[in-house]
Amino acid sequence: MTRLPVVVLISGTGSNLAALLDASRAEDCTYEVVAVIADREAAGLEHAHAAGIPTEVVRLSSYEDRDAWDRALTAAVLAHRPELVVLAGFMKLVGPELLDAVGGRIINTHPALLPSFPGAHGVRDALAHGVRISGCSVIEVDAGVDTGRILAQAAVEVLEEDTEATLHERIKAVEQPLLVDVVRRLTAGR
Ligand code: GAR
Repeated sequence: MTRLPVVVLISGTGSNLAALLDASRAEDCTYEVVAVIADREAAGLEHAHAAGIPTEVVRLSSYEDRDAWDRALTAAVLAHRPELVVLAGFMKLVGPELLDAVGGRIINTHPALLPSFPGAHGVRDALAHGVRISGCSVIEVDAGVDTGRILAQAAVEVLEEDTEATLHERIKAVEQPLLVDVVRRLTAGR
């Protein structure tokens, strides 16, 4: 079976990346992670190193402006000819060049039930608002901040004693299999 090439972009610990890598070891898996790109020295790059997958760091501060960074990031991604690009805790807004280049084949995972609580602090904002149910969303990426079409969601109950960290941990536990499921679905039968 041909496995479709997927490039994963991260900024953090990479637990979602690790779940994608684990699932890709299954014999019937429909995708292969061919590269991991980060915007900083993210701890999650270790998962790629351990799996022998090429990595690259494309820092915004290394470029004179956002457009130049966007071009460099796009070149780094396209070098691996992905069929799908997955933002798995990538904490920067991607630019128009990358969006055009991958033409709709780019998804993001977000730790809240969109369209509520978009942006960089989804867990904190949901908790501050006092919601009783939160969760995660896997969406298509468009030019807005977490405004793309929703592909899948999972709910998580907020507990009285929750902190941002404890709620985020429980969200990640449902987010990882949800993301794997969407990536498998999008790469199946192509
Ligand atoms: C994930 O929960 C993801 O939804 C979130 O960052 C975390 C990364 O965790 N992304 C955003 O908040 C994007 N707005 P990980 O590095 O352990 O996969």
